[in-house]
Amino acid sequence: MYKVGVVGATGIVGQSFLKLIEERNFPLKELRPFASENSVGRKLKCNSQDWTVSALSEGCFDGLDVVFFSSGDDISKAWAPKAEAAGAFAIDNSAAFRMSKDHKLVVPEVNGHLLDKTKKEIIANPNCSTIQLAVALNPLKKFGLKDVRVASYQSVSGAGIAAKQELINQLKQAIANEKVDTSSGIFTKQIAFNSIPQIGSFKDDGFCTEEIKIMSETPKILGTDINMSAFTVRVPTLNGHAEAVWVTLDKDITKDEFINTLKSQEGLEVIEGDDYPTVLFNDGKNEVYVGRIHKDRQPNTWLFWVTADNILKGAALNGIQIAEKLFC
Ligand SMILES: NC(=O)c1ccc[n+]([C@@H]2O[C@H](COP(=O)([O-])OP(=O)(O)OC[C@H]3O[C@@H](n4cnc5c(N)ncnc54)[C@H](OP(=O)(O)O)[C@@H]3O)[C@@H](O)[C@H]2O)c1
Repeated sequence: MYKVGVVGATGIVGQSFLKLIEERNFPLKELRPFASENSVGRKLKCNSQDWTVSALSEGCFDGLDVVFFSSGDDISKAWAPKAEAAGAFAIDNSAAFRMSKDHKLVVPEVNGHLLDKTKKEIIANPNCSTIQLAVALNPLKKFGLKDVRVASYQSVSGAGIAAKQELINQLKQAIANEKVDTSSGIFTKQIAFNSIPQIGSFKDDGFCTEEIKIMSETPKILGTDINMSAFTVRVPTLNGHAEAVWVTLDKDITKDEFINTLKSQEGLEVIEGDDYPTVLFNDGKNEVYVGRIHKDRQPNTWLFWVTADNILKGAALNGIQIAEKLFC
């Protein structure tokens, strides 16, 4: 039985951690939920018990076995090393440690072998849109991943709990023919009935930070250099990310080989023929889904469509699976 901390427990990813701890019978002895000062004293349910939210403070991780972090980069940067120093595993959903050469970036069914049960350390959970791509690309590695291009269609839940409400509010205003209020600044433009080709901030080379995360994290997880390009778009769906992927392989293979290879990947489901997954279909499901598999007109190049629940496999589920590998 383990003592668990969840930082950002009132957020969309944090709440999913609590739900998964219960649903997956994680051997929980004690839960310490943390959030901002605004949430101190709130009671959160897990395993039919109420647990009271605290603010982060010196010594707050003492005695814990694992701490899940889902409160953003700055909080992880400041507090995950304190969890590690207190003798806990720190499983971090932020981008703070993902590209550090001293930290592991783990998708359990892809590179879970890197985990070391004996070493209490900070383990980084990849970006949500990266995880589903890495799961789909992993089995194709044996054919040589020469070139990967990806265009994403990402739901508002990827921007946190307030972003979901923002879409609902804007949709109501737009349908009522009222002026749509975009003043919260959660999105750079109106998201209702729109799509926004920017996730994160732009860098000098024209890529936005979400695209850079996909392009830099994917090769690290797969353990191989890949020529990659990403273009990310926020779309007005509530939950789940979809991606159109073009992959050029070193080898010429048949469609059967391609599909059977994808089917061999743990955590990946293939939908064949004229049917395909959508984010609504994938909502609440643990698996990553692939469909629309067909050959491109370029040599050795394949196209497919990948969906996943960004809060589950893209965040909390991946974190819990890391903990299960460490403890169970
Ligand atoms: N959403 C996704 O699809 C997704 C996927 C992968 C990774 N992530 C990452 O997961 C993290 C959380 O994202 P989210 O979507 O769950 O955001 P969210 O719904 O906005 O939740 C943010 C959480 O952080 C807490 N928080 C804010 N200030 C804090 C402070 N000073 N001390 C402690 N806790 C504080 C909030 O507490 P209050 O309720 O008290 O404000 C809330 O619990 C981010 O790093 C994000 O990049 C998210």
